[in-house]
Amino acid sequence: MTKYFERILYGGDYNPEQWPQDVWQEDMRIFKNAAINSATINVFAWSKLQPSENEYDFSELDAIVAMLEKEHYDIILATSTAAIPAWLFKKYPEVARTTYEGLHNKFASRHNFCPNSLIYQKYAKALTEKIVARYASNKHVKCWHINNEYNGICYCDNCEKAFRVWLKEKYQILDALNEAWYMDFWSHRIYDWDEIVVPNARAEGVHKTNPYFAGISLDYQRFNSDSLLNLFKMERDIVRASGSKAPITTNLMGTYKGLDYFKWAKEMDIVSWDSYPAYDTPWYEVAMSHDLMRGLKDQSFMLMEQTPSQQNYQQYNALKRPGQLRAQSYQTLAHGADSILYFQLRRSKGAAEKFHGAVIEHGGRDNTRVLREVSQIGQELRELGDGFVGASIQAEAGILFDWESYWGLEYTSGPTKDLYYVPQIKYYYKQFYERNVPVNFISTETDFSRYKVVVAPVFYMVKEGMKEKLEAYVKAGGILVTTFMSGLVDQSDNVHLGGYPGPLKDLAGIWVEEIDALAKDTQNQLQFSDGTKSSGRLLCDLIHLEGAESLADYTTDFYQGMPAITRNQFGKGSVYYLGTQLEEGGLGKVLQLIFDEVAIEPIIKEPSALEITKRVINEDAYFFLLNFTEEKVAVPKEFIGLTDLISNQPISSESKLAKYEVMIVKK
Ligand code: GLA
Ligand code: ZN
Repeated sequence: MTKYFERILYGGDYNPEQWPQDVWQEDMRIFKNAAINSATINVFAWSKLQPSENEYDFSELDAIVAMLEKEHYDIILATSTAAIPAWLFKKYPEVARTTYEGLHNKFASRHNFCPNSLIYQKYAKALTEKIVARYASNKHVKCWHINNEYNGICYCDNCEKAFRVWLKEKYQILDALNEAWYMDFWSHRIYDWDEIVVPNARAEGVHKTNPYFAGISLDYQRFNSDSLLNLFKMERDIVRASGSKAPITTNLMGTYKGLDYFKWAKEMDIVSWDSYPAYDTPWYEVAMSHDLMRGLKDQSFMLMEQTPSQQNYQQYNALKRPGQLRAQSYQTLAHGADSILYFQLRRSKGAAEKFHGAVIEHGGRDNTRVLREVSQIGQELRELGDGFVGASIQAEAGILFDWESYWGLEYTSGPTKDLYYVPQIKYYYKQFYERNVPVNFISTETDFSRYKVVVAPVFYMVKEGMKEKLEAYVKAGGILVTTFMSGLVDQSDNVHLGGYPGPLKDLAGIWVEEIDALAKDTQNQLQFSDGTKSSGRLLCDLIHLEGAESLADYTTDFYQGMPAITRNQFGKGSVYYLGTQLEEGGLGKVLQLIFDEVAIEPIIKEPSALEITKRVINEDAYFFLLNFTEEKVAVPKEFIGLTDLISNQPISSESKLAKYEVMIVKK
């Protein structure tokens, strides 16, 4: 457990450089009334900090820092390297990215830097050094925010050269690369490293989502994720060298595909992320993203951004309904956050985000609905104190989230166009969520022995060493649940020969001979051995038992009578294999069977429609009770007689939570 903050940080992105100074004073007054205690500054200010190549100007940032200091705000200090000034593009056009289509960008937008441009690196480094030298010793700087939402990909000539270097390092000899990329297919064998080109629209990436050579695109994803990560590390190391004790982060984006966040998290002190559910995002999905972000380091995280009201770039930017922001904020804390921060504190007057919600709206007034809610949350957090800051969540089950399988599964051509990685993960997570069974997101590198159950949905890419690792885990008593589209390929997207699911075959005690793809909205029927009927959709594996028992067989189609769901005893543990996407009831039945087998319990025994989580720190357990249903829900019996920490009221047998209401109870 690492406790980085002395209080729950409450504030958000603050961009006073967009405003005259008299507005700043008004901001300070309003923030204070709203119990805001921190501000994230300097996220996009490079062009003001460095008006030209040889000229830096910190006067405005100095003034902002001084003002925040005076009012005792905690500062989350960003490095401003996510948007490059125009003069830098003009003088060195190479700093801009080249798109997938091969267009070399001009001065534009943000996140437009080529990660492999030495010029970009040089100037980003210089700016970071200046910022760090100036502010690292400032006691109010409580956190470092490197760049902003690293994302995107570049296909320029510099990247092409850097890609070749990265590949040489990885494969050493060209034969290994030819083999990995399966280059005798369509006469692709290459004889010189310089023959390698970036997989963009003009080359092997021509089918962006299903390239002909997934192996090349996969390596390019890895390379791009590493390239951006190197930029993060460059800035991080400058901060570290200063001796600053403030934790270093960069704001991530949940299930964002482009970056292998498990790899990134290892380099970060604390994970932070930006949560932007749409008006129709189910609450379990919001919870899942928090759990994933917490899982990256198995440690509490920061919510770096959320909107207090609405966004501007969704299809329908609905306002948050009364109470919704408060519920969403507590849900974030309930899943492991140590901060509640908004984007942004004052709404921009112009450009892309003028219709994006903010704590202070265009009216500039403080008697607004949004500000009343923001203030209420702020006051409550202040009263709550720092009790659960740094507290962790303990789980006996893990869901494997594997960015490489995510990429591989979605690059590959066939067997169905309807298969996406994240919806699959969500489907299994929902089962845990609905039962209030805590679950951690884990990576292929996690020590599985900590978990009674490991669920590995569509674990497509099984790399070297994983077979042995999983076998040892199950042999020692672990339960592995895996599904169709698992164990199929190696790290280069080449199939593991000898029958599906490749390296998982012995473990699962089955052989999958063929994979049937079901058209949209169609399903096959199946029946459990106790007679219960169920159905499966999306894909149907045609399974032969090789030691496993069938839990359910198909009852329709030409493969009726063949197993669809199997269980195999392996050492002291067992492996469940789901050969099709079971409808929710059927999946629930299988998971319940497993939970009963190894005594996986929900947070509290009494079934409840509330969302309930538990954060633990030292001897203390904090229970978060949230109602996301339309009905009033009674507080479960085991909390009767205790006190709700938010209202300071005792909980009685009459206590109920209405929609969006929340309680926190300490035991
Ligand atoms: C992202 C960015 C912010 C802002 C918000 C708007 O999270 O980090 O700068 O653009 O989106 O939702
Ligand atoms: Zn580039």
